[in-house]
Amino acid sequence: MRNPQLNMHGELQHLLTLDGLPREVIIRILDTAAPFTEVAEREVKKLPLLRGKSIFNLFFENSTRTRTTFEIAAKRLTADVVNLNVSTSSAAKGESLLDTIDNLCAMNADMFVVRHSASGAPVLIAQHLLATGRDHIHVVNAGDGRHAHPTQGLLDMYTIRHYKHDFTQLSIAIVGDVLHSRVARSQIAALTTLGVPDLRVIAPKTLLPTSIDNMGVRTFNDMREGLRDVDVVMMLRLQNERMAGALLPSPQEYYKVWGLTPEKLSLAKPDAIVMHPGPLNRGIEIDSAVADGAQAVILPQVTFGIAVRMAVMSMLAGQ
Ligand code: NCD
Repeated sequence: MRNPQLNMHGELQHLLTLDGLPREVIIRILDTAAPFTEVAEREVKKLPLLRGKSIFNLFFENSTRTRTTFEIAAKRLTADVVNLNVSTSSAAKGESLLDTIDNLCAMNADMFVVRHSASGAPVLIAQHLLATGRDHIHVVNAGDGRHAHPTQGLLDMYTIRHYKHDFTQLSIAIVGDVLHSRVARSQIAALTTLGVPDLRVIAPKTLLPTSIDNMGVRTFNDMREGLRDVDVVMMLRLQNERMAGALLPSPQEYYKVWGLTPEKLSLAKPDAIVMHPGPLNRGIEIDSAVADGAQAVILPQVTFGIAVRMAVMSMLAGQ
């Protein structure tokens, strides 16, 4: 069956998930992003690839980095960007998601960048556009529930390739609250597609999804064991807002056992890099000495995120 994100020519139509996205497409996105990193260093930080296109940023859930870097990326490509402020929009008056979409289509939207607390909201929008004959409009998932956060996964792949070059030689550990993390799901999908031979997940048993056994990773319930000799440590935020019951004793307890301290990091390879999608909980999943230390590449991740989002948007709608 054809991947629903690709059109009949194998080109990217929407970006909804990294699950099942072919390796060549991932590599093409990373290769397309590379020259875009240089645009930031120019005096005029603009390319005309999306001139005349209207992009709507629809964020139904909080965001700092993702919303801002999507906006910067679209502006660097000369698109017209509209940020819908959902707390003051008619969604707050009870308008349904698809009614909102229909109204924005009537304003001649070319692309929707969607963040939503419900898993599947961006897929629903893409299906609606297809069913109503408007499949020239593109949808980019900017994070939906626990499901997927594909551009975060891609900027993480860009960062790893930048520092470590060859995915097929790497040991990588993803650490923390995998259960609630759309970021972890997108990272695991991409890293397995790119052929990482040693992919580990380190987490308390209560923060692992039941499906973890089918994800092609090795699980560890001990930080010191799991971090041994890895090249890359990918930390996850402890997602308190998504926890229904008491899955953990306390943040202090969590830090003691699962927090990344300089001492635990010393078990990884000496040149290991430390990543985090943000926002950081200092003193909970990561110690400030690590977050601000020489091995952290957390701020470069943010910068690379602009180029990667430029690549995705230009591949979807570029001229
Ligand atoms: C993540 C998100 O919102 O999914 N942050 C981000 O997009 N940079 C991760 C998180 O909230 O922990």
